[in-house]
Amino acid sequence: MSSENFFKDTNMKDKHSPKIQRTAIYPGSFDPVTNGHLDIIERGLKIFDRIIVAILHNPAKKSLFTAEERKEMLEISLEDFSNVEVDVFDGLLVDYAAKRNANAILRGMRAVSDFEYEFQLALMNRRLNREIQTVFLMTGLRWIFTSSSIIKEAAAFGGNINGMVPAIVSEKLKEKFGFRKPQSRLQA
Ligand code: PNS
Repeated sequence: MSSENFFKDTNMKDKHSPKIQRTAIYPGSFDPVTNGHLDIIERGLKIFDRIIVAILHNPAKKSLFTAEERKEMLEISLEDFSNVEVDVFDGLLVDYAAKRNANAILRGMRAVSDFEYEFQLALMNRRLNREIQTVFLMTGLRWIFTSSSIIKEAAAFGGNINGMVPAIVSEKLKEKFGFRKPQSRLQA
């Protein structure tokens, strides 16, 4: 392979070329965002220059929070990160990634139980667009048992979920399930 093609194929450039901005899409339902998600984003930023957190808007899937509410909670939780953008998408993930000039999809993997679905998703996305690579990060040990669904279930019965989600999410869950009056920052 000529050096020209090698650099083209591996997305590497020699030292005289301008630095490539590595952008990854971190997609998900984020209903709601958890500290496990934030851990993946923080660690993803050690690999990528920029991360676009992409919330799937799927009216066919029942969610507790609207896409707008999910976006707002993510934005508040990520306000310290200038290189993270939060967006809402619909349709195919690989089409959205291509539209945003991202060539990587970032996903967190908690346990073996996640593997089959993640493997299927990654292979289908690769089949749909071979230019986009899926990158998996193992979830930090602290967040292995943290999931949006289990947190919603605990919160619905008034369980203490502090420390598992950002403060804004904890507040919003309490409002949703009637354990606290709505706050002015996020309207229900
Ligand atoms: O947080 P989730 O629910 O596990 O995220 C799943 C998500 C949003 C990554 C996945 O459902 C998705 O990418 N949906 C968009 C449609 C799509 O491209 N599906 C994969 C190929 S069929």
